[in-house]
Amino acid sequence: MKDINGGTKVFCIFGDPVQYSMSPVMHNAAFEHENLDCVYVGFNVKKENLKEAVYGIRGLGISGISITMPHKQDIMQYLDGLSDDARLIGAVNTIHNENGKLTGYNTDGPGFLRGLEEAGFKCQGKSALIFGAGGASRAIAVTLARNGIKHLYIVNRTLEKAEDIAALVKGNTKTSASIIEFVPERFNKVLPQVDLLINTTSQGMYGKVSELQDIIDWDVIDKKTVISDIVYRPEKTPLLFKAQQYNLTTVTGVNMLLYQAVMAYELWLNRKAPVNAMRKSLLEALAKSI
Ligand code: ATR
Repeated sequence: MKDINGGTKVFCIFGDPVQYSMSPVMHNAAFEHENLDCVYVGFNVKKENLKEAVYGIRGLGISGISITMPHKQDIMQYLDGLSDDARLIGAVNTIHNENGKLTGYNTDGPGFLRGLEEAGFKCQGKSALIFGAGGASRAIAVTLARNGIKHLYIVNRTLEKAEDIAALVKGNTKTSASIIEFVPERFNKVLPQVDLLINTTSQGMYGKVSELQDIIDWDVIDKKTVISDIVYRPEKTPLLFKAQQYNLTTVTGVNMLLYQAVMAYELWLNRKAPVNAMRKSLLEALAKSI
């Protein structure tokens, strides 16, 4: 463990539960790699204590804070400012404290995008299909739309939630959007037009049933289509496994988890993050936690 002293700068995450978060592992690996006198810790903050916890940020001068479940929406009312992404997505996962002024950001969507771009994907003029219409879907949909995706198909069991995201995208960006029921005969029809397919449902997560890989009509998918999953445990989900059998490019949920932290680090410290050291620590921690 590094030397911690009176001058060590503290960074943290608020969540409930927080003990399984991978953020401390990645940020401490980055601090160590860069030889920075900084430490990152987790605080289990109950919903009813969130306001006091925010007072604590200012009172203690904590300069960077990550926010995870269940506080990503509630935290917004206590902040002094919001980035455009965070305002539109309606959720904050990163706070920067600049001399007591707290600004909320959302690096979930932009982190996802950075993983995609690393795989060579460019949004401009493309179509994407997203399975799921929860918080992660919303962050990804808004980010893709703000970065030039031409059309979004949002596929969900509960159509109202898909409609909410479609309306948000159509009302605030140049992207068009349509909603589709979570029924194979419906979504398989549009797959030939799709350049990017993303799973944001919990299907494929350890311990959960996954049928997505079996109900997708892989034969109609173009060979250039990128397949992505935000589930990161296991890294190769049943969906990505099947996509690789069809020789399609895949982007893992580990990438999104990694790059949301990378982008938070870069915001707080205004310097490039040691991505490889962060990735290595994340993969090691995930392997240990199985
Ligand atoms: P998150 O905030 O992580 O995105 P969430 O808000 O719980 O998680 O959203 C999960 C999404 O996955 C929802 O859109 C959910 O569909 P419903 O809105 O119809 O509930 C979808 N989902 C979860 N489990 C699913 C499953 N087994 N099959 C299909 N969709 C599923």
